[in-house]
Amino acid sequence: MRRQEVDSDSDGLIKRWVEQDTGVFVQDQAAITEEIYRLREERNAILLVHNYQPAEIQDIADLTGDSLELSRAAATMDADVIVFCGVDFMAETAAILSPEKTVLLPAEDACCPMAQMITAEELRLVKSRHPDAAVVCYVNTTADVKAESDICCTSSNAVKVVNSLEEEEIIFVPDQNLGRYAQRFTKKRILPWEGFCIVHDRITPADVQNARKAHPGAEVLVHPECRPEVIDLADHVASTSGIIKHVCSSGAREFIIGTEVGILHRLTKDCPGKQCFPLSSVAICRNMKKTDLGKVRDALVTLRPRITVPDDVAARARKAIVRMLEI
Ligand code: 13P
Ligand code: SF4
Repeated sequence: MRRQEVDSDSDGLIKRWVEQDTGVFVQDQAAITEEIYRLREERNAILLVHNYQPAEIQDIADLTGDSLELSRAAATMDADVIVFCGVDFMAETAAILSPEKTVLLPAEDACCPMAQMITAEELRLVKSRHPDAAVVCYVNTTADVKAESDICCTSSNAVKVVNSLEEEEIIFVPDQNLGRYAQRFTKKRILPWEGFCIVHDRITPADVQNARKAHPGAEVLVHPECRPEVIDLADHVASTSGIIKHVCSSGAREFIIGTEVGILHRLTKDCPGKQCFPLSSVAICRNMKKTDLGKVRDALVTLRPRITVPDDVAARARKAIVRMLEI
């Protein structure tokens, strides 16, 4: 068998390559993981990992969670460095909440397309047309949009946040599906922006019908970023961590999971004895999959790519996020 190990050194990053039987050289994953653990100690770093991240990234996390849990951790966990394994708005939120910490996003180009669907300028225009309305922004927004908002929300607290406000009219950005979901539980008038998640919006009622046929008796759980007609067919609607909690505590044994497929790794680990099937096998967020072990290791070595937010924007955005965390 042809196998050899080779070390290369580029930009001060020593990489160990292992030759496969096919003759292709790949980086030695076990060696990278060991290096990550060592660097994590040296840097006094924590790894915050979203529930949609690749399995091998979830497995090295200090905390795996949904957007709300990870925001809380970013604000409270003791560390000099936060390695945020997720997408841009999540790392930005961590940088806003912990400006004294070095916040790294290992996959620099991991962005959330929904967060790009509204700009601060567009939001200012809507606000000028509805001067008495409060602005609730989903955490999946840029720091500039958060800075224009009264309060932030995540998928796990959107209803609570909306109902906590005095105003009767609510501008809700950017996810129309989450805004319409919150409308089901409030007498307030929600004005949803027309953004959407390109992953969840792809899930159809036919997917639910087909999955129910394939797994009769299974509970259908979906994320509130799904379309209203999909939500209508579900048994339970929750954030990613809400879905995990529900599967673990439910008496049922089989579940159809209507969100990004990365969550299935955590479900397998956290809920042994339960069987989970994806509602849609194409519900894959490519941006969430851009993180890999090599990028995490490189970020810990170089302390780059670092995410920072200008002080004036951060100060205004922080108010909206902190107001949410206080609820
Ligand atoms: P959470 O339910 O984890 O907050 O998720 C949402 C999401 O889509 C992150 O992009
Ligand atoms: Fe954005 Fe949707 Fe991906 Fe979440 S799953 S990061 S909302 S594109």
